[in-house]
Amino acid sequence: MRILGIESSCDETAAAVVEDGRNVLSSVVASQLDVHAKYGGVVPELASREHLRAIVPVVEEALLKSETRLQDLAAIAVTEGPGLIGSLLVGITFAKSLCFAHGLPLIGVNHLEGHIHAVLLEHQAVELPAIALVVSGGHTHLYFANADLSYRLLGKTRDDAAGEAFDKVGKLLGFGYPGGPVMDSLAPHGNPRAFKFTLAKMSGNPLDFSFSGLKTAVLRWTEARDLSVQMAARKALLKSIPHPSKQDWLAVTPQETLDVIASFQYTVIQEILKRLHTLTEEHDARCIIVSGGVACNAGLRQAAHSGGFPIPVYFPTPGLSTDNAAMIAAAAFPKFHRREFADFDLKPKANLALT
Ligand code: KG4
Ligand code: ZN
Repeated sequence: MRILGIESSCDETAAAVVEDGRNVLSSVVASQLDVHAKYGGVVPELASREHLRAIVPVVEEALLKSETRLQDLAAIAVTEGPGLIGSLLVGITFAKSLCFAHGLPLIGVNHLEGHIHAVLLEHQAVELPAIALVVSGGHTHLYFANADLSYRLLGKTRDDAAGEAFDKVGKLLGFGYPGGPVMDSLAPHGNPRAFKFTLAKMSGNPLDFSFSGLKTAVLRWTEARDLSVQMAARKALLKSIPHPSKQDWLAVTPQETLDVIASFQYTVIQEILKRLHTLTEEHDARCIIVSGGVACNAGLRQAAHSGGFPIPVYFPTPGLSTDNAAMIAAAAFPKFHRREFADFDLKPKANLALT
């Protein structure tokens, strides 16, 4: 039973064919990173235009690689939200057209549920209920995932998402966009305890996050010293090589800056682990699921696996942690069995909630 998944909620155009909700036959992702990098973040209008350019070849490649014809499909699943309206619209319109033309059922999938399914897809041993953290450029959301795949929101960021904080600090320090992967590669070269960043105490729900103060603390650090020489060197590096290697970055980054990066990353990880520990004490969950782009972070993975949790912690492989369509097709599988099909008036929902 094959489902074609289509994902276009932000800056990746993705299509995948997944068999029986588990077996990824193809997963194609066209990234727009290079388009947005020069603006230091995702430009919504450009994202929509790039999706329009990419959607046909990406879907064709996913079908070709999986040796699937449209008539072999049981359904087409598409991300209906949350995300950028113009970007979502491209995927949804394309999915609807294919379904209409080929008489296939359409399934709308919440992008955040997709991220959770990236873990269920890869790890057969996962048992629900679980504590699920979706940590990406747009979200830092903690859920209780029930055995019937219903979700309860336990906490979320009140300002920046963790990935957004990585990207803003990366930009502030001259590492280009997105900053997360670069900072992750440089963090092991700095002292994580060199700078003690203090975080705002959360009034109300202690499981909520706030990362904007941490970003401001790094900004204050940059303002208090003259970084002009190293900033100019990193700018020149980015101009000469579009994707510098870790060694390239290390050559233009003094120790004190590496210490700030390591301390920043350490603080983000501690904030996440603290909440996961509280939740494992308070809830009767079988495991912890961590997914979304920031789940690629090697420091977070290592800290979570050696964090002394009484239940297993599962991450997707990095390729399924960031935005992809295999997770959308996988999340659609149980919906197909429950016959939760969408009408052709399915609309993109920028702020679609999971609960
Ligand atoms: O899930 P994703 O592909 O898109 C969203 O739904 O947002 O996540 C992208 C985010 C970006 O903010 C990026 O900097 C961050 O994930 N990211 C990382 C790493 N790899 C990607 N952050 C920290 N460490 C990484 N290794
Ligand atoms: Zn995502």
